Amino acid sequence: MNILVLGSGGREHTFAWKLAQSKRCKALFVAPGNSGTEAIATNLNIGVTDFEVIKNSVIQNNIDLVVVGPEDPLVQGIHDFFLQDSALKNVAVIGPQKAAAELEGSKEFAKEFMMRHNIPTAAYESFTKQNVEEGYKFLESLKPPYVLKADGLAAGKGVLILNDLNEAKAELKSMLVDGKFGEASTKVVIEEFLEGIELSCFVLTDGKDYKILPTAKDYKRIGEGDTGLNTGGMGAISPVPFATKGFLDRIENEIVKPTVEGLKKDNLPYVGFIFIGLIKVGDDPKVIEYNVRMGDPETEAVLPRLKTDLGDIFEAMATQTLSDVNIEIDDRATTTIMLVSGGYPEAYEKGKEITGIESVTDSLVFHAGAKAQDDKVVTSGGRVMAVTSYGNTYQEAVKKSYQSIENLHFDKMYYRKDIGFDL
Ligand code: AMP
Ligand code: GLY
Repeated sequence: MNILVLGSGGREHTFAWKLAQSKRCKALFVAPGNSGTEAIATNLNIGVTDFEVIKNSVIQNNIDLVVVGPEDPLVQGIHDFFLQDSALKNVAVIGPQKAAAELEGSKEFAKEFMMRHNIPTAAYESFTKQNVEEGYKFLESLKPPYVLKADGLAAGKGVLILNDLNEAKAELKSMLVDGKFGEASTKVVIEEFLEGIELSCFVLTDGKDYKILPTAKDYKRIGEGDTGLNTGGMGAISPVPFATKGFLDRIENEIVKPTVEGLKKDNLPYVGFIFIGLIKVGDDPKVIEYNVRMGDPETEAVLPRLKTDLGDIFEAMATQTLSDVNIEIDDRATTTIMLVSGGYPEAYEKGKEITGIESVTDSLVFHAGAKAQDDKVVTSGGRVMAVTSYGNTYQEAVKKSYQSIENLHFDKMYYRKDIGFDL
């Protein structure tokens, strides 16, 4: 197969790294890619939502299968675009159609889906500009902290957790009435605060059957001890030590099965990844959110543990024969640590030379916000690279990643030194 991966982050470099090892992969393309993908595939200078340009490139390069990394093209309907085009309809797309991508594209849609299919999640109500007064009353009926979620995609910034009632009311007004998150906050979901420890579960589905990939735990805050601003993710560990067999069985029975069955019942075609953000409340798993793609940096920890040929898996998903595939997982733990630009997730500088990549021999280095420039690799984003290691325990893996990071340098490089601290 000729395969195209859409995206430019660490997640996409990891997909490309794994697909480059596939016996099914004849030619590999990444759009737009980064310095990491450039070394193992052909980068195409195309944006992930430029559907017409993607179309031309798919035809020109005889692409058989497209793997969609980020959510934007899915929510904008890239899979539907392929199905509706006579020249593209036989090209396989890994990623759900637009209607199902609403699981990530609209928080209200996701909550209604969970209610309809009895999937455990926080209690909620949703509000618009028209009934903002009722929103204030609903907030008064809740105990702090207050959880406010912009309904639409807001680049990971649309969730606010506030301790003060007046502040919560003011934020609700700012979202609904003043358009704090633009179109994304014309509707706001207010939900019950859940207290517990978070983990992520990754499911592959071909719309008929499903397979569960290893769990991972992501570290979202910029600062050590889980403090400071939210980021895209500063590191991840797989598997999650507190996810025992009994707990995983409950996740499968109470959440994964009803989710896949619910998609079928609601007639929502789904070939792709379902990323279920979970929280363990007491002994119970509850859903915080759905994403319709893999996590980043969770992919950088999860895929290195997958022994099965990823090309075989994607082929089986596209032909609805996923039930025939045996998913083999490496028993070792993995960890990934993100190196970020100083200042991220706020303003930061780009174009800093990255050195030492070739000196890392004990870990995998996945490029994210990094690009090739002349014969150098320079920073081009906030999250710059993910350093993944294996270990018999996650502690061993974490230690190895930190040792490898000693070799890597760029001006104002920052990373968290406490990944795994809470386990
Ligand atoms: P989301 O974008 O829905 O994943 O929310 C971002 C983060 O906000 C989650 O990873 C949680 O840490 C937190 N969060 C979201 N919803 C809740 C909730 N109902 N209770 C507690 N924390 C939450
Ligand atoms: N690391 C969280 C995400 O990919 O949404």
